[in-house]
Amino acid sequence: VTVDGRVARVLGTRVNPDRARIEVDGRRIAVRPGHDYYVLNKPPGYVTTVSDPRGRPTVMDLVRSRRRIFPIGRLDADTAGVLLLTDDGELAHRLAHPRFQVPRVYVAEVIGLPGKAVRERLEKGVRLQDGLARAQRVRVRARGSRSSQVEVTMAEGRKHEVRLMLEAVGHPVTRLARISYGPIRLAGLPLGAVRALTPREVGDLQVLVGL
Ligand code: URA
Repeated sequence: VTVDGRVARVLGTRVNPDRARIEVDGRRIAVRPGHDYYVLNKPPGYVTTVSDPRGRPTVMDLVRSRRRIFPIGRLDADTAGVLLLTDDGELAHRLAHPRFQVPRVYVAEVIGLPGKAVRERLEKGVRLQDGLARAQRVRVRARGSRSSQVEVTMAEGRKHEVRLMLEAVGHPVTRLARISYGPIRLAGLPLGAVRALTPREVGDLQVLVGL
């Protein structure tokens, strides 16, 4: 075994996996263990897909990785906020699967002010075309004269679900952002920026979905 052309004689030799050339019997091997995990603060106007046939900007334009990463779940093009990306298929599958009920928190700016009865309706479940859409929790964050800001916690993520359920109860959404996905928050990450998850965050996600 050689590291950058020199035989590695010391057990536990440390290398920089991004730069070291490691060979076994003269053949280079891939050494980077594990996977990559990122959180992007998605700006509105980017589609959540790996490649868009219509040539629109995609979230992949905002993230650089040596690995073949992909987004976990989706945000609408108009939605901003927390989007996780990884090349870890098992973790991604579990995080997105409704069975694991991973809480996602959204902040929605809506027309009007959803009163207590409306909030309870959302928590009980609103019938949409593709079935019942239920929020785990709805609370008002800020109220204005014509619009308000509500925090909606969901345990699943169907297409346009938050927008559709708020519209169904008479409060159309004018702006939508996701502020957390399970334990992952933006923690000051600016719009359009990406950061690697910390080992602790990755561990928390794994524990959450039983890995
Ligand atoms: N619900 C929506 O309506 N849109 C999103 O982007 C995410 C959840």
